[in-house]
Amino acid sequence: MASEQQPAVVTCTAPVNIAVIKYWGKRDEELILPINSSLSVTLHQQQLKTTTTATISKDFTEDRIWLNGREEDVGQPRIQACLQEIRRLARKRRSDGAEDALPPRLSYKVHVASVNNFPTAAGLASSAAGFACLACALARVYGVEGDLSEVARRGSGSACRSLYGGFVEWQMGQRADGADSIAQQVAPESHWPELRILVLVVSAEKKLTGSTAGMQTSVETSALLRFRAEALVPARMAEMARCIRERDFQAFGQLTMKDSNQFHATCLDTFPPISYLNDTSRRVIHLVHRFNAHHGCTKVAYSFDAGPNAVIFTLADTVPEFVAAVQHNFPPEPNGDKFLQGLPVEPALLSDELKAALGTDPTPGGIRYIIATQVGPGPQVLDDPGAHLLGPDGLPKPAS
Ligand code: DP6
Repeated sequence: MASEQQPAVVTCTAPVNIAVIKYWGKRDEELILPINSSLSVTLHQQQLKTTTTATISKDFTEDRIWLNGREEDVGQPRIQACLQEIRRLARKRRSDGAEDALPPRLSYKVHVASVNNFPTAAGLASSAAGFACLACALARVYGVEGDLSEVARRGSGSACRSLYGGFVEWQMGQRADGADSIAQQVAPESHWPELRILVLVVSAEKKLTGSTAGMQTSVETSALLRFRAEALVPARMAEMARCIRERDFQAFGQLTMKDSNQFHATCLDTFPPISYLNDTSRRVIHLVHRFNAHHGCTKVAYSFDAGPNAVIFTLADTVPEFVAAVQHNFPPEPNGDKFLQGLPVEPALLSDELKAALGTDPTPGGIRYIIATQVGPGPQVLDDPGAHLLGPDGLPKPAS
């Protein structure tokens, strides 16, 4: 329950998530309600995370926000939607439980600072981690407990799935007010310890068509998207939950690839068409299928969001050989980035048979770097005051 004991400064971290059943299309633009349910894997924050500090004070004269060190317009509609939603919940959840007067802190202005440890807008779902983290930090500082799906979702739909660790579904819900459009954990991060995720960073450039605008055009023009949402996704959600429950990698991998491909097919079916994949993305798709064909089973699976980066799902014992295959087809070029980042990986020696199976058209420099990670937990609250991004004056601490 909200109380005057809530800390006036809070720092949280939140994870990136990658959907294996994709969200694409809204039935309500304002409330950010989706046309289908979706299911994602939460990535470990050791490799990819957003850190956000929120602090409130009666002395602040306006809400302010700094993203990656730069002050941004706090009037952006989605930031405003999150702020309004958290203040509404703070009043509502309090008045549900207590009859006493609202605490004065509810009227205090907030300062927020947020940083990512990965490139923004590179197709790595930075908005999901960012808005999940904003929702958590605001909730703590304003004393809101319970599910924060409605707050995170108003920032970015996929953000509600970053509120939990492990495997998470976002139920589309039926209600017009969105109260049943919430995220829920399907299985915790400890459920499938062998699962690994490799983010193949193709380009750190900003994407051409943002997902918000892209999916709006898809909803308006793509009959394939409507068919997908109505006729296919419900069964796919159930099947994906089964694959996860039973740790059935074969079926998990195949359905992950099919759903990614279908999402990109709806993008091409959009008018004017949208294409997020580039030549390197398509080469990765090819590589994965050849690698699997060589082994006679699904050892690795790809998924692509609204950008060219490939996200690879595989099991721990396949990582050394697959990373060697990636290095073989995309010989690293000096670009200032370490090629293998994240969890330590020792690439295997490729057999001549596998090399032959992969084909012989290497694309030097096609992949900038690989981030190796695993399934991880949901948002965390950092207790160490040294972690705060804002100083006692409510302004960003100088970067050390
Ligand atoms: C392709 O959540 O970024 O990554 O709700 O408009 O902010 P908005 O869109 P966003 O869309 C994510 C789309 C996706 C698929 C997914 O994560 O499910």
